[in-house]
Amino acid sequence: MIPAHATPEATAAFASRFVKEDGIATGHYRTSRGLSISSLGLGSYLGDTSDEADRGYEAAVREYIALGGNFIDTSINYRAQRSERSIGRALASAFASGLARRESLVICTKAGYFPFDGNYPRSRRDAEEWVHKNLTGPGIVKSTDIAGGSHSMAPAFLRHQLNWSRANLQLETIDVFYLHNPETWLSDGDTDRARFMQRLHDAFAALEALVEEGAIRYYGMATWDGFRVPPSEEMYMSLEDCVQIAKQIAGEGHHFRFVQAPMNLAMLEAVRFANQRVSARLVPLFDAARQLELCTVASATIYQGKLAGRLPPQIAELFPGFSTDAQRAIQFNRSAPNVNVTLVGMGGAAHAAENMSVSKRPPAPVEITKKLLLKLA
Ligand SMILES: NC(=O)c1ccc[n+]([C@@H]2O[C@H](COP(=O)([O-])OP(=O)(O)OC[C@H]3O[C@@H](n4cnc5c(N)ncnc54)[C@H](OP(=O)(O)O)[C@@H]3O)[C@@H](O)[C@H]2O)c1
Repeated sequence: MIPAHATPEATAAFASRFVKEDGIATGHYRTSRGLSISSLGLGSYLGDTSDEADRGYEAAVREYIALGGNFIDTSINYRAQRSERSIGRALASAFASGLARRESLVICTKAGYFPFDGNYPRSRRDAEEWVHKNLTGPGIVKSTDIAGGSHSMAPAFLRHQLNWSRANLQLETIDVFYLHNPETWLSDGDTDRARFMQRLHDAFAALEALVEEGAIRYYGMATWDGFRVPPSEEMYMSLEDCVQIAKQIAGEGHHFRFVQAPMNLAMLEAVRFANQRVSARLVPLFDAARQLELCTVASATIYQGKLAGRLPPQIAELFPGFSTDAQRAIQFNRSAPNVNVTLVGMGGAAHAAENMSVSKRPPAPVEITKKLLLKLA
């Protein structure tokens, strides 16, 4: 396994080399937790469980790094562990060939959903057998700690999954380890919110311990609905309450520092819907995260591919100089208020090259995205 983790010095040197030598715009990199992070991150959710898709991701990761990207997002369950394994192979070859140093890259993964192994089960029965053989049978997860038959955030399970992820990624330390869609519990698990908050507390305590042990650097919550629905909905989560839990466990120096939610031209809640209370004022999620000192990560930047080739001409006028709608959607997201990083799933080198060409231009002035947000209201 490859030792080390992202550092302020190495990420800054990586960013500065690309700005000086490769024409990447200065504003492309942002500083968060002292790390210089590219505003476009590589995601790895979609795609089938084939060797061909594996090769596509390996090529995409190499291209993305070669073009100045240093923020990679995955999850143990993506493509039944194949995304993590593909990224692990690409990283090992990038380090061996001198394309990048381990310390220059921020590598993020997630735990929560049962990951399966190389392929998705073909039936419910196959899934149950896999879960029994690998998780409940050996005593890693108790049946009372499972929501909807497919998700857990029990401390022993998180630790177990992290070890699998470290092996898949061939990395000793994960920079950011997320709880994956914890709000699943509010619809498919505990109906009692106090019980849910206790589960979150137990998970955060385990994650703080993993930081202490050097297995992870930071932890976060990667969500879909929980932080962007109205407070009246059953899946709603308050970011301030979650931060409060981290503070109860580890004080002001806690390591709950990353939050992920979908945000794109068709899903604007994280930057526009004031549903998160911070110091008695309601603000949108990413504004709340900035005030609470968390790094914000937008996912599904091109609406899982659906915005590519489908944007109205008025959007092209607002973001001149780009040749494709995917690039314009990326430019919107990386320029939106309080977004640190925006993630695009890239399953091949051609998409990585097309998307990374956005980094040659600075983000648009925030007035442009604010104007567009008003128009889209
Ligand atoms: N709850 C969560 O934790 C959560 C939820 C959703 C997403 N995420 C993370 O966020 C990442 C991004 O979201 P996403 O992958 O769901 O959606 P996305 O980034 O909006 O879209 C990815 C899709 O767009 C395609 N694509 C990429 N570049 C393109 C281009 N230039 N032109 C046309 N199509 C292009 C990709 O195809 P190819 O694969 O062929 O390149 C893929 O099918 C995920 O990969 C994942 O890492 C996290």
